[in-house]
Amino acid sequence: MNQVDFPALALRSERFPKTIADQTRKVYDRVSFIYPASTFFFHSKAHKCVIEDAGIADGSRVLEVATGSGEMFRRLVEKNPRGQTIGVDISPNMAAKTQRQVRREFPGTGTHCQAVDARQLPFRDESFDSVVCCYLLELLGQDDVVAVLEEFHRVLRHRGRLALVLIGQNTEMFNRAYRVAGSLIPAFWGRQVEQSVPALIKDLDFRVQSDRILRQGFYPSRVLVAQK
Ligand SMILES: C[S@@+](CC[C@H](N)C(=O)[O-])C[C@H]1O[C@@H](n2cnc3c(N)ncnc32)[C@H](O)[C@@H]1O
Repeated sequence: MNQVDFPALALRSERFPKTIADQTRKVYDRVSFIYPASTFFFHSKAHKCVIEDAGIADGSRVLEVATGSGEMFRRLVEKNPRGQTIGVDISPNMAAKTQRQVRREFPGTGTHCQAVDARQLPFRDESFDSVVCCYLLELLGQDDVVAVLEEFHRVLRHRGRLALVLIGQNTEMFNRAYRVAGSLIPAFWGRQVEQSVPALIKDLDFRVQSDRILRQGFYPSRVLVAQK
């Protein structure tokens, strides 16, 4: 048995510091005013794929974890105007920005965004039809990647759907650049985990329903949708 056959083991044994949540919160708080530009250039194509693939029904209960400055969150609210769309982010500035914009753009919808750490979601078991999480797992230590996926499983109802977006690991040049960026500012960049995640979600009995790899400029993403 080697780690190539069992990518989940590779993630667990990889040497990566524990989640550095305080630093991550501070750094994302500072960049919240400029973050929409980064989302526009690198994340918007993957966000559109989530909307196409995740099967979000109007009138459902949707949770987005790690909303950032709210670009995906607004797409979710637009898709679910008669339902309840809840967002969380560890950065109070990101959560407040998302909340302000969505209230302005979609007055009267059942939306709420608050500052919460994904490792302990303040929601009842099986209380959401869909959970969406884009580009968060890279920022967590290995134990917390598993803990957060368990939280997603806990809050999703039976047959609910999880949509995950990860930074793709399919381009060697990009991977090298990412390793350098991650070693310089780990709280902002983290490290790539994409290849380990499918095995982790299968361990939790999620069934993968769609799996897409795409690029926006030089930036690769993987969009996974799985059913509980
Ligand atoms: C790379 S950004 C992605 C933002 C957004 N999801 C997107 O697709 O553009 C990561 C976000 O995760 C948030 N974050 C980091 N650690 C978190 C945690 N433990 N719990 C909740 N949010 C967290 C950061 O504050 C930041 O807004």
